[in-house]
Amino acid sequence: MKLWQKNNDNDAAVDRFTVGRDREMDLLLAEADVLGSLAHTRMLETIGLLTAEELALVQKELKKIYSEIKAGRFRIEDGVEDVHSQVEFLLTQRIGEAGKKIHSGRSRNDQVLVDLRIFLRRELYEITRDMRALFDTLQTLSEKHRNTLMPGYTHLQVAMPSSFGLWFGAYAESLVDDMQMMLAAYRITNRNPLGSAAGYGSSFPLNRTMTTELLGFDSLCYNVVYAQMGRGKTERIVAQALSSVAATLGRLAMDNTMFLNQNFNFISYPAELTTGSSIMPHKKNPDVWEIMRGKCNLLQALPNQITMLTTNLPLGYNRDLQLLKEQLFPALEDLRNMLHMAKYMLEHISVREGILEEKKYDYIFSVETVNNLALSGMPFREAYKKVGLDIENGTFRPERTVHHTHEGSIGNLCNDKIRMLMDEVVSQFGFERVAQAEAALTSK
Ligand code: ARG
Repeated sequence: MKLWQKNNDNDAAVDRFTVGRDREMDLLLAEADVLGSLAHTRMLETIGLLTAEELALVQKELKKIYSEIKAGRFRIEDGVEDVHSQVEFLLTQRIGEAGKKIHSGRSRNDQVLVDLRIFLRRELYEITRDMRALFDTLQTLSEKHRNTLMPGYTHLQVAMPSSFGLWFGAYAESLVDDMQMMLAAYRITNRNPLGSAAGYGSSFPLNRTMTTELLGFDSLCYNVVYAQMGRGKTERIVAQALSSVAATLGRLAMDNTMFLNQNFNFISYPAELTTGSSIMPHKKNPDVWEIMRGKCNLLQALPNQITMLTTNLPLGYNRDLQLLKEQLFPALEDLRNMLHMAKYMLEHISVREGILEEKKYDYIFSVETVNNLALSGMPFREAYKKVGLDIENGTFRPERTVHHTHEGSIGNLCNDKIRMLMDEVVSQFGFERVAQAEAALTSK
């Protein structure tokens, strides 16, 4: 039986086709769905659509359902269309008449909108925590290996001295910019669409400011038509932020795969973190980084997939939007797994000392020699020419000391400054307010 069903039975094939994998996805929205109902029903009571007794009954039962969800005891039954229907059915089954009143002034259209935003802001919170943890690992490695030199490349040709301090530190700083993207996505997500109902508001005198405050949203999606337009747009913006993180991780994965290669041989991992070959007994393959590279590339396609799914949809709710969940939800989990895995791998990385002592890197010091001559008074262009000729004549003798002192260079990584940037971005989310609001809504 469906919420919207009157007398006739629905075609089973149509049912299977339209519901598809939606129940599986909706299970992830269950907590958010109950939070939304907790706030909505409190508001309904203030405008006279529920009595105080009915509200007390509804609140008690919703909180019970909330703890059942938390304990993993909540299911969306086969005959039930979605999470919204399941919660309402349970409520009506358990408390009768009062349960039938809670849907006044809302539609599943704004219910799914608010569920998604509550769910996504929590996911963004978890992901930013994992990003922060990886950031810390990268910074620690950068400090630890600040004096270990490695080749720097341009055109993938040996170019100038670099260091492991710079390499690790670069990825930490990249995560700062990705965090800015996450912050933008979070701000856009943390607004309240509840009360837009089917997409055009309601004739009930809803108090949308009240549900906004109860749910810990920063503000409302005011215009009811725009609130519905936010479906797909919010997901796309979140996907863009995830994609930015994926781009950072994907590059890190490629570097690791390359630096582990025997021709580079810059880094190594304990055997148990690599994988073997079924035929070549010597192999220690970087499969973790390769899977990560692939997944990160796929994740970067996600904003485009969402764009394809939503471009040119007519205004208002369209069922196509349901499919967004199947695209976005697995990506959230994938990204979190990758952040954990990258951190886990890096905690076990070994870097090789003395790489630049090797003869093949002699010319990497050519610019140092030119600069030293320039510092002692020879015009730069003349110094450049002299060193160039020495190289051609085979008389170039590299001086293997590197003396870089400006901000952000080998000898002055500025990791503390980068950390301050990260702290500043993270401090702007305001997760605590959301946590407090959710705790207040669900407290007994
Ligand atoms: N499963 C639906 C979705 O995700 C819920 C909203 C259904 N609304 C409707 N009018 N059929 O979009």
